[in-house]
Amino acid sequence: MLEEQGLLQELAQIQVRALETLQAVQEQTGLQVWRSANLGRSAPVMRIFSRLGEVSKEERPLVGQRANQVKQALESAYEEYENRLQETALRSSLEQDRLDVTLPGRQPERGRLHPSTQTLRRIYRIFAEMGFQIYLAPDIETDEYNFELLNIPAYHPARDMWDTFHTTNEGMLLRTHTSPGQIRVMREYAPEPIRVILPGMCYRYEQISARSEIQFNQVEVLAVGEGITFSEFKGTLIDFARRMYGEDVRTRLRPSYFPFTEPSAEMDVECFICRGEGCAICKGSGWLEIMGCGMVHPIVLQNGGYDPARFTGFAAGMGPERIALLRHRIEDIRHFWANDIRFLEQF
Ligand code: DAH
Repeated sequence: MLEEQGLLQELAQIQVRALETLQAVQEQTGLQVWRSANLGRSAPVMRIFSRLGEVSKEERPLVGQRANQVKQALESAYEEYENRLQETALRSSLEQDRLDVTLPGRQPERGRLHPSTQTLRRIYRIFAEMGFQIYLAPDIETDEYNFELLNIPAYHPARDMWDTFHTTNEGMLLRTHTSPGQIRVMREYAPEPIRVILPGMCYRYEQISARSEIQFNQVEVLAVGEGITFSEFKGTLIDFARRMYGEDVRTRLRPSYFPFTEPSAEMDVECFICRGEGCAICKGSGWLEIMGCGMVHPIVLQNGGYDPARFTGFAAGMGPERIALLRHRIEDIRHFWANDIRFLEQF
Protein backbone atom coordinates (compact mmCIF):
# COMPACT_ATOMS: atom_id res chain seq x y z
CA MET A 1 0.00 0.00 0.00
CA LEU A 2 2.72 2.40 1.03
CA GLU A 3 5.02 1.39 -1.80
CA GLU A 4 2.22 1.89 -4.22
CA GLN A 5 1.62 5.41 -2.93
CA GLY A 6 5.33 6.12 -3.17
CA LEU A 7 5.65 4.97 -6.77
CA LEU A 8 2.52 6.80 -7.90
CA GLN A 9 3.81 9.95 -6.31
CA GLU A 10 7.18 9.43 -7.93
CA LEU A 11 5.51 8.95 -11.31
CA ALA A 12 3.61 12.20 -10.88
CA GLN A 13 6.85 14.00 -10.05
CA ILE A 14 8.63 12.41 -13.00
CA GLN A 15 5.93 13.69 -15.32
CA VAL A 16 5.92 17.20 -13.88
CA ARG A 17 9.71 17.52 -13.92
CA ALA A 18 10.07 16.11 -17.43
CA LEU A 19 7.45 18.46 -18.83
CA GLU A 20 9.08 21.38 -17.06
CA THR A 21 12.50 20.67 -18.55
CA LEU A 22 10.88 20.19 -21.95
CA GLN A 23 9.66 23.81 -21.87
CA ALA A 24 13.27 24.97 -21.56
CA VAL A 25 14.40 23.14 -24.70
CA GLN A 26 15.16 25.59 -27.54
CA GLU A 27 16.28 23.53 -30.51
CA GLN A 28 16.55 20.09 -32.09
CA THR A 29 19.73 18.85 -30.42
CA GLY A 30 18.40 19.88 -27.01
CA LEU A 31 15.22 18.00 -27.80
CA GLN A 32 17.11 14.79 -28.58
CA VAL A 33 19.04 15.09 -25.32
CA TRP A 34 15.73 15.51 -23.52
CA ARG A 35 14.31 12.48 -25.26
CA SER A 36 17.06 10.11 -24.25
CA ALA A 37 17.03 11.47 -20.69
CA ASN A 38 13.26 11.14 -20.29
CA LEU A 39 12.26 8.32 -22.60
CA GLY A 40 15.53 6.42 -23.05
CA ARG A 41 16.21 3.01 -21.51
CA SER A 42 17.40 4.38 -18.19
CA ALA A 43 14.93 7.23 -17.98
CA PRO A 44 13.17 7.61 -14.57
CA VAL A 45 9.83 6.45 -15.95
CA MET A 46 11.48 3.35 -17.45
CA ARG A 47 13.05 2.52 -14.13
CA ILE A 48 9.61 2.48 -12.49
CA PHE A 49 8.73 -0.49 -14.67
CA SER A 50 11.62 -2.50 -13.28
CA ARG A 51 10.52 -1.63 -9.78
CA LEU A 52 6.96 -2.97 -10.18
CA GLY A 53 8.05 -5.95 -8.09
CA GLU A 54 8.11 -3.68 -5.08
CA VAL A 55 4.30 -3.35 -5.03
CA SER A 56 1.72 -5.99 -4.21
CA LYS A 57 0.23 -8.14 -6.92
CA GLU A 58 -3.13 -6.42 -6.56
CA GLU A 59 -1.74 -2.92 -6.92
CA ARG A 60 0.74 -3.76 -9.64
CA PRO A 61 -1.67 -3.26 -12.62
CA LEU A 62 -2.65 0.15 -11.37
CA VAL A 63 0.96 1.32 -11.00
CA GLY A 64 1.91 -0.26 -14.34
CA GLN A 65 -1.01 1.41 -16.03
CA ARG A 66 -0.07 4.72 -14.47
CA ALA A 67 3.56 4.34 -15.58
CA ASN A 68 2.38 3.66 -19.11
CA GLN A 69 0.21 6.75 -19.05
CA VAL A 70 3.16 8.89 -17.93
CA LYS A 71 5.34 7.37 -20.65
CA GLN A 72 2.69 8.06 -23.27
CA ALA A 73 2.16 11.58 -21.99
CA LEU A 74 5.87 12.26 -22.33
CA GLU A 75 5.97 10.73 -25.79
CA SER A 76 3.13 12.83 -27.08
CA ALA A 77 4.57 15.94 -25.39
CA TYR A 78 7.81 15.13 -27.19
CA GLU A 79 6.08 14.81 -30.56
CA GLU A 80 4.08 17.94 -30.12
CA TYR A 81 7.17 19.85 -29.10
CA GLU A 82 9.14 18.55 -32.04
CA ASN A 83 6.41 19.69 -34.45
CA ARG A 84 6.37 23.07 -32.84
CA LEU A 85 10.15 23.44 -33.16
CA GLN A 86 10.02 22.50 -36.83
CA GLU A 87 7.26 24.97 -37.47
CA THR A 88 9.18 27.79 -35.79
CA ALA A 89 12.30 26.97 -37.77
CA LEU A 90 10.32 26.98 -41.00
CA ARG A 91 8.61 30.24 -40.16
CA SER A 92 11.87 32.00 -39.36
CA SER A 93 13.53 30.76 -42.52
CA LEU A 94 10.58 32.00 -44.57
CA GLU A 95 10.86 35.24 -42.71
CA GLN A 96 14.55 35.55 -43.52
CA ASP A 97 14.32 34.49 -47.15
CA ARG A 98 11.45 36.82 -47.76
CA LEU A 99 11.20 37.74 -51.43
CA ASP A 100 9.60 40.88 -52.76
CA VAL A 101 8.39 39.81 -56.17
CA THR A 102 7.41 43.40 -57.00
CA LEU A 103 11.05 44.61 -56.93
CA PRO A 104 12.54 45.36 -60.37
CA GLY A 105 14.84 42.56 -61.62
CA ARG A 106 18.62 42.82 -61.78
CA GLN A 107 19.93 43.30 -65.33
CA PRO A 108 22.53 40.65 -66.17
CA GLU A 109 25.68 41.98 -67.86
CA ARG A 110 25.49 41.45 -71.60
CA GLY A 111 28.27 41.34 -74.14
CA ARG A 112 28.08 43.57 -77.19
CA LEU A 113 29.72 43.98 -80.55
CA HIS A 114 32.89 46.03 -80.87
CA PRO A 115 32.24 49.43 -82.53
CA SER A 116 34.43 48.36 -85.48
CA THR A 117 32.37 45.19 -85.95
CA GLN A 118 29.16 47.20 -85.79
CA THR A 119 30.42 49.60 -88.46
CA LEU A 120 31.74 46.74 -90.62
CA ARG A 121 28.36 45.02 -90.49
CA ARG A 122 26.56 48.18 -91.57
CA ILE A 123 28.90 48.49 -94.52
CA TYR A 124 28.42 44.79 -95.44
CA ARG A 125 24.64 45.18 -95.30
CA ILE A 126 24.61 48.25 -97.54
CA PHE A 127 26.86 46.69 -100.19
CA ALA A 128 24.99 43.39 -99.96
CA GLU A 129 21.79 45.27 -100.80
CA MET A 130 23.57 46.66 -103.86
CA GLY A 131 24.60 43.17 -105.01
CA PHE A 132 28.20 43.05 -103.76
CA GLN A 133 29.68 39.85 -102.34
CA ILE A 134 32.33 39.58 -99.62
CA TYR A 135 35.75 38.25 -100.61
CA LEU A 136 38.39 37.51 -97.95
CA ALA A 137 42.06 37.92 -98.81
CA PRO A 138 45.05 37.08 -96.56
CA ASP A 139 46.56 39.44 -93.96
CA ILE A 140 50.07 38.28 -94.83
CA GLU A 141 50.89 39.29 -98.36
CA THR A 142 53.77 39.33 -100.77
CA ASP A 143 55.50 42.51 -101.84
CA GLU A 144 54.28 41.62 -105.33
CA TYR A 145 50.56 41.70 -104.46
CA ASN A 146 50.73 44.51 -101.95
CA PHE A 147 52.75 46.79 -104.26
CA GLU A 148 54.07 45.58 -107.61
CA LEU A 149 50.84 44.32 -109.15
CA LEU A 150 49.05 47.46 -107.95
CA ASN A 151 51.38 49.53 -110.10
CA ILE A 152 53.68 50.49 -107.24
CA PRO A 153 57.16 49.27 -108.26
CA ALA A 154 60.04 49.26 -105.79
CA TYR A 155 61.39 52.61 -106.93
CA HIS A 156 57.96 54.28 -106.95
CA PRO A 157 57.74 57.30 -104.64
CA ALA A 158 54.16 56.35 -103.72
CA ARG A 159 55.66 53.60 -101.53
CA ASP A 160 56.30 56.36 -99.02
CA MET A 161 52.54 56.40 -98.42
CA TRP A 162 52.71 52.97 -96.77
CA ASP A 163 55.10 52.31 -93.90
CA THR A 164 55.39 48.57 -93.97
CA PHE A 165 55.91 45.74 -91.49
CA HIS A 166 58.17 43.27 -93.29
CA THR A 167 58.45 39.68 -92.09
CA THR A 168 61.69 37.73 -91.77
CA ASN A 169 60.66 35.87 -94.94
CA GLU A 170 62.07 37.85 -97.84
CA GLY A 171 59.29 39.48 -99.85
CA MET A 172 56.53 38.70 -97.29
CA LEU A 173 54.84 41.48 -95.37
CA LEU A 174 51.72 42.41 -93.41
CA ARG A 175 49.37 44.01 -95.92
CA THR A 176 49.34 47.79 -95.63
CA HIS A 177 45.93 48.03 -97.28
CA THR A 178 43.18 45.72 -98.60
CA SER A 179 43.91 46.63 -102.23
CA PRO A 180 46.08 43.52 -102.93
CA GLY A 181 42.84 41.53 -102.58
CA GLN A 182 41.74 43.21 -105.82
CA ILE A 183 44.37 41.24 -107.74
CA ARG A 184 43.47 38.00 -105.93
CA VAL A 185 39.76 38.24 -106.68
CA MET A 186 40.39 39.31 -110.29
CA ARG A 187 42.79 36.40 -110.90
CA GLU A 188 40.21 34.01 -109.46
CA TYR A 189 37.24 35.26 -111.53
CA ALA A 190 38.64 36.75 -114.78
CA PRO A 191 37.08 37.21 -117.28
CA GLU A 192 33.77 37.13 -115.32
CA PRO A 193 32.37 40.46 -114.11
CA ILE A 194 33.10 41.19 -110.44
CA ARG A 195 31.21 43.03 -107.74
CA VAL A 196 32.84 42.49 -104.33
CA ILE A 197 33.91 44.13 -101.12
CA LEU A 198 37.09 42.97 -99.35
CA PRO A 199 37.15 43.72 -95.62
CA GLY A 200 40.10 43.07 -93.36
CA MET A 201 42.79 44.21 -90.96
CA CYS A 202 45.69 46.24 -92.33
CA TYR A 203 49.02 47.00 -90.69
CA ARG A 204 51.39 49.94 -90.83
CA TYR A 205 54.69 50.65 -89.20
CA GLU A 206 53.64 53.86 -87.51
CA GLN A 207 54.31 55.75 -84.35
CA ILE A 208 51.12 55.03 -82.38
CA SER A 209 49.34 58.23 -81.47
CA ALA A 210 45.83 59.56 -80.98
CA ARG A 211 45.48 59.76 -84.78
CA SER A 212 47.38 56.73 -86.06
CA GLU A 213 47.46 53.07 -85.15
CA ILE A 214 49.59 50.17 -86.36
CA GLN A 215 46.48 48.14 -87.18
CA PHE A 216 43.07 49.11 -88.49
CA ASN A 217 40.35 47.74 -90.73
CA GLN A 218 39.69 48.64 -94.32
CA VAL A 219 36.89 47.73 -96.65
CA GLU A 220 37.93 47.60 -100.30
CA VAL A 221 35.26 47.91 -102.97
CA LEU A 222 35.79 46.53 -106.48
CA ALA A 223 33.61 46.32 -109.57
CA VAL A 224 34.98 45.08 -112.90
CA GLY A 225 33.04 44.48 -116.08
CA GLU A 226 32.52 45.53 -119.67
CA GLY A 227 31.43 49.11 -120.08
CA ILE A 228 31.53 50.23 -116.43
CA THR A 229 31.61 54.02 -116.51
CA PHE A 230 32.76 56.82 -114.26
CA SER A 231 29.16 57.88 -113.67
CA GLU A 232 28.30 54.37 -112.45
CA PHE A 233 31.27 54.56 -110.13
CA LYS A 234 30.11 57.92 -108.81
CA GLY A 235 26.48 56.82 -108.54
CA THR A 236 27.36 53.69 -106.56
CA LEU A 237 29.46 55.59 -104.04
CA ILE A 238 26.90 58.36 -103.65
CA ASP A 239 24.24 55.71 -103.08
CA PHE A 240 26.45 54.09 -100.46
CA ALA A 241 26.95 57.44 -98.70
CA ARG A 242 23.20 58.07 -98.65
CA ARG A 243 22.47 54.65 -97.18
CA MET A 244 25.26 55.08 -94.62
CA TYR A 245 24.79 58.71 -93.60
CA GLY A 246 21.23 59.56 -94.53
CA GLU A 247 19.16 60.23 -97.63
CA ASP A 248 19.93 63.95 -97.77
CA VAL A 249 23.71 63.81 -97.16
CA ARG A 250 25.78 65.88 -99.59
CA THR A 251 28.93 64.38 -101.09
CA ARG A 252 31.81 65.54 -103.27
CA LEU A 253 34.63 63.88 -105.18
CA ARG A 254 38.03 65.56 -104.98
CA PRO A 255 40.76 64.69 -107.49
CA SER A 256 43.56 62.73 -105.85
CA TYR A 257 46.33 60.31 -106.68
CA PHE A 258 46.68 56.57 -106.18
CA PRO A 259 48.96 54.43 -108.37
CA PHE A 260 46.27 51.76 -108.87
CA THR A 261 43.46 54.05 -110.09
CA GLU A 262 43.18 56.49 -112.95
CA PRO A 263 41.59 58.90 -112.49
CA SER A 264 41.77 58.85 -108.67
CA ALA A 265 39.60 60.70 -106.21
CA GLU A 266 38.76 61.08 -102.57
CA MET A 267 35.17 61.20 -101.46
CA ASP A 268 33.98 63.65 -98.82
CA VAL A 269 30.61 63.74 -97.10
CA GLU A 270 29.14 66.84 -95.62
CA CYS A 271 30.18 66.91 -91.95
CA PHE A 272 27.39 65.09 -90.11
CA ILE A 273 28.32 66.79 -86.87
CA CYS A 274 27.85 70.42 -87.97
CA ARG A 275 25.95 69.81 -91.24
CA GLY A 276 28.56 71.72 -93.21
CA GLU A 277 28.78 74.73 -90.94
CA GLY A 278 32.37 74.01 -89.88
CA CYS A 279 33.34 72.48 -86.52
CA ALA A 280 36.30 70.95 -84.69
CA ILE A 281 35.66 67.49 -86.15
CA CYS A 282 35.80 68.68 -89.79
CA LYS A 283 38.43 71.26 -88.84
CA GLY A 284 36.20 74.08 -89.99
CA SER A 285 35.87 72.81 -93.57
CA GLY A 286 32.34 71.39 -93.36
CA TRP A 287 33.51 68.17 -95.11
CA LEU A 288 34.81 64.81 -93.94
CA GLU A 289 36.93 62.55 -96.09
CA ILE A 290 35.53 58.99 -96.04
CA MET A 291 37.37 57.07 -98.76
CA GLY A 292 39.93 56.92 -101.52
CA CYS A 293 38.61 55.73 -104.86
CA GLY A 294 38.93 55.80 -108.63
CA MET A 295 38.64 53.91 -111.92
CA VAL A 296 40.82 50.78 -111.85
CA HIS A 297 44.14 51.49 -113.60
CA PRO A 298 44.56 49.59 -116.92
CA ILE A 299 47.80 48.05 -115.66
CA VAL A 300 46.00 46.71 -112.59
CA LEU A 301 43.21 45.26 -114.77
CA GLN A 302 45.83 43.59 -116.90
CA ASN A 303 47.66 42.22 -113.86
CA GLY A 304 44.31 40.80 -112.72
CA GLY A 305 43.81 39.00 -116.05
CA TYR A 306 41.34 41.39 -117.71
CA ASP A 307 41.88 42.97 -121.12
CA PRO A 308 41.87 46.74 -120.40
CA ALA A 309 40.69 47.40 -123.94
CA ARG A 310 37.38 45.67 -123.13
CA PHE A 311 37.05 45.89 -119.35
CA THR A 312 36.81 48.80 -116.99
CA GLY A 313 36.08 48.99 -113.30
CA PHE A 314 36.09 51.09 -110.19
CA ALA A 315 37.57 50.65 -106.73
CA ALA A 316 37.41 52.33 -103.36
CA GLY A 317 38.89 51.88 -99.91
CA MET A 318 37.42 53.06 -96.63
CA GLY A 319 38.27 52.72 -92.93
CA PRO A 320 35.52 51.60 -90.53
CA GLU A 321 37.45 52.89 -87.49
CA ARG A 322 37.63 56.30 -89.10
CA ILE A 323 33.91 56.20 -89.79
CA ALA A 324 33.15 55.11 -86.19
CA LEU A 325 35.52 57.77 -84.88
CA LEU A 326 33.69 60.48 -86.76
CA ARG A 327 30.21 59.16 -85.95
CA HIS A 328 30.80 58.89 -82.22
CA ARG A 329 33.28 61.78 -81.94
CA ILE A 330 35.97 59.55 -80.44
CA GLU A 331 39.11 61.64 -80.00
CA ASP A 332 41.66 58.86 -79.68
CA ILE A 333 42.02 55.96 -82.11
CA ARG A 334 43.98 53.98 -79.48
CA HIS A 335 40.68 53.25 -77.69
CA PHE A 336 39.79 50.75 -80.41
CA TRP A 337 42.33 48.10 -79.44
CA ALA A 338 42.94 49.01 -75.79
CA ASN A 339 40.15 46.63 -74.68
CA ASP A 340 39.00 49.03 -71.99
CA ILE A 341 35.55 47.83 -71.00
CA ARG A 342 34.48 51.38 -70.07
CA PHE A 343 35.03 52.45 -73.68
CA LEU A 344 33.48 49.34 -75.26
CA GLU A 345 30.36 49.49 -73.06
CA GLN A 346 29.32 52.75 -74.64
CA PHE A 347 28.36 51.20 -77.97
N1 DAH B 1 44.53 51.43 -100.61
C1 DAH B 1 44.39 52.84 -100.30
C2 DAH B 1 45.02 53.17 -98.97
O1 DAH B 1 45.19 52.30 -98.16
C3 DAH B 1 42.95 53.25 -100.28
C4 DAH B 1 42.35 53.20 -101.64
C5 DAH B 1 42.41 54.30 -102.46
C6 DAH B 1 41.76 52.05 -102.10
C7 DAH B 1 41.86 54.29 -103.71
C8 DAH B 1 41.20 52.01 -103.38
C9 DAH B 1 41.27 53.16 -104.19
O2 DAH B 1 40.63 50.93 -103.87
O3 DAH B 1 40.73 53.11 -105.41
O4 DAH B 1 45.33 54.29 -98.72
